[in-house]
Amino acid sequence: MARARRIGILTAGGDSPGLNAAIRGIGKAAIDHYDMVVVGFRDGFRGLVEDRSVRLDRQLSGILTVGGTILGTSRDKPHRMLVDGEVVDMTGAVVRTYEKHRLDALVCLGGGGTAKNALRLVRAGLNVITLPKTIDNDIVMTDATFGFATALDVATEAIDRLHSTAHSHHRIIVVETMGHRAGWLTLGAGLAGGADVIAIPEVPYNVESMAEAIRRRVRKGSTFSIVAVAEGARNPEDAAAFAEAEARKRAASTPEEIESAVGALAAVEAAHAGNTLHLAGQLEALTGLESRVTILGYVQRGGTPSAADRLLATRLGSAGADLINEGVFGVMVAARGEGSEPVPLDQVAGKRKLVPLDHSWIVAARHVGTCLGD
Ligand code: F6P
Repeated sequence: MARARRIGILTAGGDSPGLNAAIRGIGKAAIDHYDMVVVGFRDGFRGLVEDRSVRLDRQLSGILTVGGTILGTSRDKPHRMLVDGEVVDMTGAVVRTYEKHRLDALVCLGGGGTAKNALRLVRAGLNVITLPKTIDNDIVMTDATFGFATALDVATEAIDRLHSTAHSHHRIIVVETMGHRAGWLTLGAGLAGGADVIAIPEVPYNVESMAEAIRRRVRKGSTFSIVAVAEGARNPEDAAAFAEAEARKRAASTPEEIESAVGALAAVEAAHAGNTLHLAGQLEALTGLESRVTILGYVQRGGTPSAADRLLATRLGSAGADLINEGVFGVMVAARGEGSEPVPLDQVAGKRKLVPLDHSWIVAARHVGTCLGD
């Protein structure tokens, strides 16, 4: 097979620190090391559909330390794109843009959803690889995802800072972190920041157990507590309703079934909004301690990437250029120890890496006396 000469790059899904470092890593390796031409597409898959592109070269300098993505991003899916108010399958338009630019490969930087979309494009005949990006750390078959280390640092620093104010006012501070449906960010930051209670989606919480852990601290003289709660953490009843809605969506096959299952899942998600505030109120009532809520939100995703994320994104980007040069497609460039490995996209798409209940962070949290809400 002829060597790849022209590659396209796009960033999709939620932005994440390290995206620009990855664009630079793959772009510079492709141009400087392999003498390829690199085209960036704007705003995720939408830029491919609408053929909005930029030739990347000089723009690759000076972006290593910059947060966000210079290409812009979106959550658009090629096969279900909103066009003039209608949901349309735009896969054909993607293929046309790919051919028009005479691309030999397309690199999609994104999370689990992006891997799914990329796999669809592989099945439509395109040469695609992905790089694992997300602050949620929930992509299977890779040791790490870029964005996570930075978000972990930000969330940990926030928990550190909340300690002194909670202590001074003898309050419970409930801090909500992102992570989507996985608890990596909350567990990691909670453990690193010394939270007293940590609630993650993998361990449905019992509010009475949490309250008792806080009361126990009061009895021992600590009249404040930090409660780290993942945005996806739920009590057992809500967790069961959510699992049922998810299973229904997975099982749906006809367009009508899919639409109805997506609606049902959205309703369960909507009912979950405000859960952290509700939990804080319950803890206040059960312990008699005043409570406050801090929702960290997008601050966890913004800003300059940490050194760890810059390194990971740069080495995975450069490994991606190697794979394209070798003609290896249909894979995610996974981090493996100090190196990397191509993993077939069908082993990644549609899967989610949750925190195993015997993970060392869970074991350590329990051993140091952190309440996990169960
Ligand atoms: O996947 C990254 C993430 O930040 C999740 O932690 C969060 O649930 C979600 O994106 C927020 O998405 P949006 O940017 O669409 O509000």
